[in-house]
Amino acid sequence: MTGIHKRFPGVHALKGVDLTVDYGEVHAVVGENGAGKSTLMLVLAGVYQPDSGSIHFNGHQAVSIRSERHAQELGIAIVYQERSLFSNLSVAENIYAGRQPLNRFGSIDTDALTRQSRDLLAHLELEIDPRLPLDHLSFAHQQMVEVAKALSLNAKLLILDEPTAALTRVETEALFRVIQRLQSQSVGVIYISHRLDEIFQIARHATVLKDGEKQGTLEVEKTTPRELVRMMVGREMLYDFQARTIPADAPTLLQVTNLSDPPGDVPGEVRLRDINLSLRRGEILAIAGLEGSGRDELALSLFGARPLASGTICVEGQPQAIRSPYDAIQHGIGYLPPDRKESGLFLEMAISDNIASGSLGRFGRWWWSESRRDQTAEQYRQQLQIASPTVQRLVQTLSGGNQQKVVLSKWLLVDPQILIVNEPTRGIDVSVKVEVHRLLRQLADEGKAIIVISSELPEVLAVADTIAVMRAGRIAGQMPRAEASEEQIMTLASFDTHH
Ligand SMILES: Nc1ncnc2c1ncn2[C@@H]1O[C@H](COP(=O)(O)OP(=O)(O)OP(=O)(O)O)[C@@H](O)[C@H]1O
Ligand SMILES: [Mg+2]
Repeated sequence: MTGIHKRFPGVHALKGVDLTVDYGEVHAVVGENGAGKSTLMLVLAGVYQPDSGSIHFNGHQAVSIRSERHAQELGIAIVYQERSLFSNLSVAENIYAGRQPLNRFGSIDTDALTRQSRDLLAHLELEIDPRLPLDHLSFAHQQMVEVAKALSLNAKLLILDEPTAALTRVETEALFRVIQRLQSQSVGVIYISHRLDEIFQIARHATVLKDGEKQGTLEVEKTTPRELVRMMVGREMLYDFQARTIPADAPTLLQVTNLSDPPGDVPGEVRLRDINLSLRRGEILAIAGLEGSGRDELALSLFGARPLASGTICVEGQPQAIRSPYDAIQHGIGYLPPDRKESGLFLEMAISDNIASGSLGRFGRWWWSESRRDQTAEQYRQQLQIASPTVQRLVQTLSGGNQQKVVLSKWLLVDPQILIVNEPTRGIDVSVKVEVHRLLRQLADEGKAIIVISSELPEVLAVADTIAVMRAGRIAGQMPRAEASEEQIMTLASFDTHH
């Protein structure tokens, strides 16, 4: 790609970007939220037409990639940052949507469809029944289906736009093995991720974008993480938090006793068993654990979004019946879910409307309250560096990471006593990650209690005062931050230490 320019109304998203990817290499594209990474990939995948610039691909001189289908015909496959699957179709139908194998009567050959899908999923080390409806799968497995769909095209160039944002370690490692296999078949891979350790693990080159401009291409082997971050952010980044001390007399805000799900299995869900937790004012508790460990179920239960068989939840020493999210909010419990699309983000509405959407009672319906609402939204826009000139813009025009910041702002404005955040920095770039962690600590300092659920161990270790590790629906272990290590957390999360 040479000299690619792309403008949206009011935004010059790509300013003459060059990118060269070799056969058989993994080439990372990195940069802060809104830097232009996804836009560049959408140009390459035929979704957007560039305003100017040229593309040379696989021996074709100066191709103009007219559509997604044209890109596929040329041998370019993409896994989009935003999910693009149909939740009511089966896994196999999603993988082969529009390209289903036909039998000799000209109708869809369901057996072949199932068989081919199963083979593809096996490459990804997944044992999923391809006949299942997609929405029976976990979020991580749905993401893997996206990857399987891209692999089914047998492309010469595979674009992965934050494929691991929703994946756990096990799936990420499986994906990396697939990428290595593709490399040996001289497939080129463009890899976008905010997890820089992944870049150092698999990429040969990294091209850095900042504000739509290319900053340079680095040879990863000869680069340090610090250098890479400096090029991305344009300055040195410091990330050394001091350990926090919670006052010894801080009252207990949340006490969870013997929380258990009813016996009997619900497909796709983990049964919670005998959960005991206690959270003081000012404390940040991180819950670590693999996908399927019960982290999400626990969060939903505390938020009243799942029925519980037994156990008590005490808020400020009072046992409370929390049977719905409404009850939870009434008792000062807030929940930021991991998936933007399910988190009540209204894509066709303005940033300010979205931020205010959890606190409508606070603003009223008069014209002056509208300007007060916009001022409030504006504060969050600045604090979290939401990349948009104004808060009047529609959320759908924001980059993925910036949409996440809007959801986070909404809950910060609701200002609950107990805030549960599930993957709070998914898709958020390094510099804002630090800002989000700082904010969570600030909330705790103000006397709130925070529960952080995260698959990123560096994040767990960076923000938590206390770490609880879940496995198979139980708390497998709990320890103060000062006594925790990545190895210990992984061991507790992965192996049965319960006798
Ligand atoms: N359809 C659109 N309409 C208007 N502006 C857009 C559109 N798509 C992207 N933009 C803007 O273009 C810029 C680049 O966005 P892009 O999605 O490429 O960022 P990114 O580097 O992928 O960020 P992230 O890491 O958050 O995914 C942003 O300022 C974004 O708001
Ligand atoms: Mg993006």
